This record gives sequence, structure tokens and C-alpha cells, in this order.
Amino acid sequence: MHILVTGGAGYVGSATSAYFLAAGHRVTVYDSLVKGHRAAVPPEAGFVRGDLADQGALEVLFQTHRFDAVAHFAAFIEAGESMQQPGKYFRNNVAYTNNLLETMTRYGVKKLIFSSTAGVYASKDEPLCEDDPLGPANVYGETKLMIETMLRWYNRVTGLQYAALRYFNACGAMLAPDGTPIRGEAHDPETHLIPLTLQVPLGQREAVTIYGTDYNTPDGTCIRDYVHVEDLASAHVLALEALANGRDRMVYNLGNGRGYSVREVIDVAREVTGVDFPAVEAERRPGDADRLVASSERISRELGWEPRYPDLKQIIRSAWAWHTAYPHGYERDEPER
Ligand SMILES: NC(=O)c1ccc[n+]([C@@H]2O[C@H](COP(=O)([O-])OP(=O)(O)OC[C@H]3O[C@@H](n4cnc5c(N)ncnc54)[C@H](O)[C@@H]3O)[C@@H](O)[C@H]2O)c1
Repeated sequence: MHILVTGGAGYVGSATSAYFLAAGHRVTVYDSLVKGHRAAVPPEAGFVRGDLADQGALEVLFQTHRFDAVAHFAAFIEAGESMQQPGKYFRNNVAYTNNLLETMTRYGVKKLIFSSTAGVYASKDEPLCEDDPLGPANVYGETKLMIETMLRWYNRVTGLQYAALRYFNACGAMLAPDGTPIRGEAHDPETHLIPLTLQVPLGQREAVTIYGTDYNTPDGTCIRDYVHVEDLASAHVLALEALANGRDRMVYNLGNGRGYSVREVIDVAREVTGVDFPAVEAERRPGDADRLVASSERISRELGWEPRYPDLKQIIRSAWAWHTAYPHGYERDEPER
């Protein structure tokens, strides 16, 4: 199939593009590079630089390519920023997704895989199932929930088949079979715990900050479920197959079913890097839920998804390999934009 990958120059989209290609599909990435990196896009993929805001460019894209499916990663992803600039998130994530959906409808492209998030749920002590109560703690999570609602209506009105994949915390790096890092996390600004933590032993940051130590968890710090980026990528390949087989309206969690507190992640990072680096405690940030841990039983049962890298130490080892090889991300080998 020929797959349009929006946001395919970003962290999860570039890894998934590589997985689609390896599964024998054709990939065209559409990305504005507002956040992503041209160098992250697999060389075998087509690349069109453009923004989902630009309806004319989208029209040309669909006129000049015949897509069988779309994997939609493009979004702003910083929960903290979304609590300061809600309009930026409603516009980019929700309104521009509607541009994409309208264009897909006009060109008869009926299959979509959407990057949703654990942030659509209300916090809960037990692993979260897809039917558990929803209740985003921040605007970013709300934008993803709004898009899931749009997808249900597009399905009903236009027959769009979709899979909304609710990722828990994406992490880790893609390594070649010989262990050479290929692509990894390079957000700017970086807001994710594992890369922020690894910046300390790399000498790029004096200490890692723990935001909030009075959450309703055993050690007082937030608990999250960390899922390797390659395991997210493999789930997209399975979702695409399911769409090709006629499934629609799929909603799946993607996580490992095990939660780690911020303090636990930092301890594992100290162990992996062999550096006893400092952590400092700070006030809570707005918009952080106490605990988000996935039950991914539904996608395992229905699509046969099995994470290959469920172990946090293994995840952090792969991230460490990437960050030590590319301490400044893709910067150095970035071609001209
Ligand atoms: N990283 C995570 O832990 C995580 C967790 C849950 C869900 N998600 C979702 O997965 C997706 C990918 O996340 P990521 O970590 O790879 O983010 P990322 O920032 O690395 O990638 C997003 C990409 O989208 C592009 N983009 C943003 N707005 C655009 C627009 N209007 N037009 C064209 N391109 C645009 C950016 O340039 C970037 O390359 C996002 O939708 C995010 O909400 C990520």
C-alpha cells in the first residue's frame, strides 16, 4: 500500500515509516519540519515538506499521489505548553486534522491510523482499559480526544475506517541489528523524562528535575507506562493490515502494563549509564495525572501485538546508545531545509 505519513520526520512517525517500508509498503512523508528532522525520514521514503494548515498544498499532495491509507502523527505534543497556549493546540492538532480528514474524504482515501495518547484517560490505580473513564488532565490530551470524536463521526458519515492508537510514554531508540543507533528522540525543547534524564550523565544538564513529589503514588512521583518506539511502530503495521482486512473503528492502548515512577526511571538510568547523577525536586507542573498505565490486552488479543522491548532497562539502554552517538540529535547531519 502507499501510505501518507503526516509528521513522519518526527520521533514516532520516522520509526513507523521505517517499519512500513520494511513490511513492503510505500511511504510518502508530509511534514512541515516545525519540530521534526529531515534526516530522520528513511531514505527510501518520499518526502514533501508542507503544513497541514496549508489546504492548497494538501490538495496538490492528494492530486499528485494515490494514497491507500494515512498514518497521522503530525501534532504539537507538549502537555505543559498546551496549558499555557491552548489555542495553539486546538488549532494545530484539531483544526488542521480536520483539513486532512476533509481532503481524504474528497479524494476517497478511507483508511487512517491516528496517534492518540494515554492522556485521554482520567488517572486510575489499575491498568487502563479502552472503555475506562476518559478525562484528560491537559489541553493536549483533550485535543486528541476531540480528534477521536471527529473520527467516530467521519466513520459514520463518510465510511472512514480508522484505528486510534493510544500510546502511553513513547521511548527508546531504533538500533540496527549490530546495535548501531539509527533514529531516536530529538525533541526541541525536550520535555520527556528519559531523554531529559540522560542529558545529565551526558554533561548537558546539571541535574534532572522531579516535578512534584506529592502525587497519590507510593513514592509521591508520577507513574507512567513506558513503551518502546519500535513496539509502537510494529503496532501500526498490524493496524494497517487490520484496516486492509476491513476492520474499522479500532481504539487500542499501547503500553507494557507496568508503571514506573519518575524516581524509578531515574534509578534505572543511573544503573544503565553507571553515573550516580543528581536529581532535584520541584513544584508540580500543571496538567500531570498521578498514574497512567495501560492494559494492552485488547490489541494483543485482536491483532496479536506483542511488545519486543518491554523491559525498562533495555529501553533506556537503547536510548543511551542513541544519545551518546548523537548527543545533539540530528543537528550535525541535517541536510539543508
Ligand atoms: N512521544 C510520545 O510519548 C507520544 C505519546 C502519545 C502520543 N504521541 C503522539 O504521537 C505523535 C508523534 O509524536 P512524536 O513524539 O513523534 O512527536 P514529534 O514532535 O517528534 O513529531 C511530530 C511531527 O509532526 C510535525 N508537525 C507538527 N505539526 C504539523 C503540521 N501542522 N503540519 C505538518 N507537520 C507537522 C512536526 O514537524 C514533527 O516532525 C503525535 O501525534 C503525538 O501526539 C506521542
